[in-house]
This record gives sequence, structure tokens and C-alpha cells, in this order.
Amino acid sequence: MKDKDYEDFVERLRAESDIVSIISQYVPLKKKGKNYWGCCPFHNEKSPSFSVTPDKGFFYCFGCQSGGNVFTFLMKMENMVFPEAVKLLANKLNIPVPEREKTEKERQIERERVTLFRANELARDFFYACLTKTNFAGGARKYLEHRGITQEAVKQFGLGFAPPAWDKLVNGLSTRGIQLETMIKAGLAAERNSGEGAYDRFRNRIMFPICDLRGRVVGFGGRVLDDSQPKYLNSPETLVFNKRHILFGLNLADKFIRETGQAIVVEGYMDVIAAHSAGVRNTVASLGTAFTLEQAKSLRSVHEIVFAYDSDAAGQNATLRALEIAKKLGITIKVIAIPDGKDPDEYIRKHGADAFKLLVTESLSLVEYSLRSSLQTIDYSTLEGKVAVVSKMIPVLASLDNAVEINEYITQTSEALSIDESSIRSELRKYLNIEKKDRIVNVGKDSSAVYLKNRQVSPTEQAEKTIIRFMCEDMSIIPYIEVQLTLEDIQDERRKKIMKSICNAYNMEKNITDISFQETLGEEAALEFSHIMLMDIQLTNMTQMVDDCIKKIRLFSLKKLYEEHRLRADELHRMGDSSFLQELAESQRINDEITKLHQS
Ligand code: CTP
Ligand code: MN
Repeated sequence: MKDKDYEDFVERLRAESDIVSIISQYVPLKKKGKNYWGCCPFHNEKSPSFSVTPDKGFFYCFGCQSGGNVFTFLMKMENMVFPEAVKLLANKLNIPVPEREKTEKERQIERERVTLFRANELARDFFYACLTKTNFAGGARKYLEHRGITQEAVKQFGLGFAPPAWDKLVNGLSTRGIQLETMIKAGLAAERNSGEGAYDRFRNRIMFPICDLRGRVVGFGGRVLDDSQPKYLNSPETLVFNKRHILFGLNLADKFIRETGQAIVVEGYMDVIAAHSAGVRNTVASLGTAFTLEQAKSLRSVHEIVFAYDSDAAGQNATLRALEIAKKLGITIKVIAIPDGKDPDEYIRKHGADAFKLLVTESLSLVEYSLRSSLQTIDYSTLEGKVAVVSKMIPVLASLDNAVEINEYITQTSEALSIDESSIRSELRKYLNIEKKDRIVNVGKDSSAVYLKNRQVSPTEQAEKTIIRFMCEDMSIIPYIEVQLTLEDIQDERRKKIMKSICNAYNMEKNITDISFQETLGEEAALEFSHIMLMDIQLTNMTQMVDDCIKKIRLFSLKKLYEEHRLRADELHRMGDSSFLQELAESQRINDEITKLHQS
């Protein structure tokens, strides 16, 4: 099928599918007003903030800010890529799927990926056979035994051994028909300096195959048997191995993560193996790198991530990143502080499986963890120390939206540091005002509570959203708006993009519900668009409202422009540049326009 036919097919699917009935297959929905509501499947909640608009075909969660169309929903829900979601939807609707004709480039990449998977798989089998069946792996087997790795674990994780030679794997794979070029591309072999031939990348190492969610081997980690360096050698990034996306052990842990809604994230290979062997099978490793958003997303509908990192620095680092990620995905973050600075593997070996399970159930919330680790690492007997602890705590406190919780931790922090609660409150208020302009803090002078409302929208922001919604509700007002506003008047980049796309769509006689329209938006703007489509606004008295919005948007934009010219004029004046007069005149002209607009 040609691209155009595929597009038409996707569009037909969209038009024929009823988003409410599709989403209802996963989430119970109830009608309220024009839209449907339910508890969001992408984050943990008890009261519904997930809504679906039947007529326009969008969903949006006001809690975790996820949104999109019927395809986006299936992609998120089933962890699929777009063509897979198309297939699934077609199946649900009983519409046969024509195969999309792939471009030559796509086909080539796909072929290459398949050969890399094949090479990796053969390499895994080769390493595994070396470990389990050959004499020269005696030392490696002893090493694993000494570290408490059972034969079941060896089998389950497909552990192996790379022999201490330069060409064993290269030769082995060659006889099985793998090209040298493929081995190099897979990161299994490295090219000789002479440019002729290649040699084994991994030598005399215990091999840990790294798999994707579906269990395909994407790369390897190889550990030395002694103290030599580097301790671990990993595959380079390849067409199938992207470290930011991969979590070691996810192929085995996924089932248990989905069952429990919880994932335990550790740092290393050995930690995952130890945890799984101890029966804590929802464990994965981020492989030494900082935890990424992509990795979090690959955990699919997980409600809680428990970090069990070894060192304090790594733990702290993880906490901060986790904060951002948690906010983005609506996931609860917990941290295990492992006693005596051990990693999970050492801890399990020393104290046993049950002790580790206990640590998991007793894991600390982010705030508790931050407080505890700050108090451990900072000398808070001095004033500077107290200030340092407070400034570490502020962003964490600010991330909470529960007033009771915030108060509790403010009290705990102030007690630990023997300082007054009010100084923490005022720091928090400052932080929220400066850093988080989009949040409103109400800290009553003598009130003991800090109330955080969810994202207060500024009037300009609201006007931009509203006018976009009106343009979609009634496209005939678009020419009028195009005359009154320019894209430069729109402050938010995503909304600028939306506005532009809507005008284009209108001029090309396309509809905003068309998938091809939504594709032009890109991920962030598409999400904002879903939000706008599900905003609760009055659609009566639209002409008056449109003019109000235009006025608000223009005023804000002009005021900003005015400031810019004023500042520029000042600057030029200071530098003794006479062209400041022109800037001043321009700012005056803008000011006149503002005055006029105010009077209108
Ligand atoms: N790592 C790496 N390269 C290194 C060191 C570490 O890729 N040179 C990654 C590995 O994935 C490793 C993880 O970071 O598993 C954690 O490192 P570390 O704590 O040093 O190793 P452990 O996992 O504890 O390994 P072991 O117990 O075998 O020493
Ligand atoms: Mn270790």
C-alpha cells in the first residue's frame, strides 16, 4: 500500500472508531455533561480526572497530563508503536489491514536490525556454551559460584563467558554465516587498526546479555573476573542498543511489575540477578547510568518506582531525576536506603532475601529520603549547614501537592535542624514564586498550612487556549482571528504551533479531527491540543468571548514588546548610542496602541 493509501486508511479508522467505546474496554467511563470521565489508567488515582470527548475523539487526564487521540491511547495503554496501534484498532473494528508499503530505507534498517539481533543471539548462545560446557571457563564458573549465582540464574539470564582469546567469537560466528561487518555493527567485534579483519571485543569476561522487553538480545555487559579495569565492558550503542531506553532484566521483570504495579530499580547486573533469585522479581537495572524518562516510560503503567541505588551520590542524583520523572508521569517514587552502604546484591548475600524484602516494604518516600540523606551528609550544627539542608529540601517539598504532607515534612525538617518552621515556609514560598510561576501558593500569614493548588492558569494563557478552542468549534471565525492576531502574539510555543496548524488546515479544507492534522503538531503540541479540546469552557456568547480573548492576547503581547523596546532604549542610551531615540519612539508608539486597545 502506498503512503497516501495508508494515510487514508488511518483516517478511515479514526472516523469509524468511537473513542469512548474503545477506551471503555480498558477504563470504566461515565457520562458527565458532554464528555465522559473515569479513573486514569496511566497514573494511580481514586477520583476521576481522566476525560474523553466523544465528538472530537480526544482524551486528556487532568491529573497526570497525558492525552491524545484513540491511537495515542492504544500506544500508551498497550505500549505499542503507531503502526501496531493502527493494526490493533483495525482488529477491534473488524476492518482488514492493508500492509503499508515501507520505504526502501525503512526496509533496509529493518533488515539490518534483524541481522544484528540474529548475531547477538548467536553470540549469547556461544558465550553460554562456553560458560557451561568448556574447560577454560572453570575459573568463571567458580567465580559465579563464589558470588552465589545459581545454575538456574545462569540459565534464566543466559549468562555466559567470553574466552580469553582474540578470535573465538569472530570465528564461531563466521562459521555460522555472520558477516564480519555485522559483528562490528553489533559491537561484538572491533576492527583491527590495520583495517584488515576484526577481533573479539569481549575477552575473558563473564557475559551478561542485555535484552529488550520482548527478550531479543540488544547488547552485552562483560565483567572481569578479578580487580582489573574496566570492571564492566558494555556493548557500544548500536542500531538495536540504546542505553537510555533499556532496563536490564525488564524482559523477565515486566510480568511482575505489571502484577504489582511497582518496579524496583537498581544499578547493576548483579543486583538484578540477586534480587530475582531472592524472589523480588519486579527488579530491573538502569546499568550505572542515571535513570531516564525513556526508561521510566518503558515500565508501562507502573504506579510506584522504588530506587535501590548503592552510593549516596548516585542515590541523590536518582532522587532529583526521579522527581522530574515522577511529576511527568504521575508515578510515586520511593527510595531504599541500604544500610552500611552496600549494594542490593551484597545486602541480600549478607542478610538474606527476607531482609531485602523488608527494606522494600519499608522504603522511604522521596522527602523522607532526602531529609535523611541530607542530614547524614551535611554538618547541620552550623548555620551554613542548616541553610544547605533547607535548600536541598525545598525543591522536594515543593514537588508535593498535599498540604498535610507538606506540613508534616516542614515540621520534621524544622525539628531536625532546630530552626523555626516559618523560615522554611518563607523559603518555600520564595522558591515557588520564582521557580514555579505556574503554581499558586497561599501561605496565610498565621495559617499553618501551605496550600498548593494545581497549576493556576494565567489570563493570557487561558485566552490563548480559549481562542484555539473556539477556532476548532467554529472554523468560520478563523479568517477574522487571522486578521486580528499574528502568530507572534501567541506566547506559548506549543499553542503557536497549534494555531498555525489550524489556520493551515482551514486553508487546505482539512479538519482538526484528521489524523494528518494532528501529526503536524508533534508530541508536545498534540498533548496541549488534547487538553484544550477537553477544557471545560462556555461555548455561548462566542463572538463577545472571541473579542475578549483577542484583546487579552494583544495586550499582553504589546506590553511585552513595549518592555523590550524600553529596555533596548535604556541600554543604547547608557552606551551613548543615539539610536536609542528610535527605540524610544517605537516604544511610545506601542504604548499608544496599548492605550487605544484599553479604551476599545
Ligand atoms: N558499570 C559499567 N561500567 C563500569 C562500571 C559499572 O557499565 N566500568 C555499570 C554496570 O552496569 C554495573 C553498574 O554500573 O552493574 C553498577 O556498577 P558497580 O556498582 O561498580 O558494579 P556492581 O553492579 O556492584 O558489580 P559487582 O558487584 O560485580 O562489582
Ligand atoms: Mn556489587
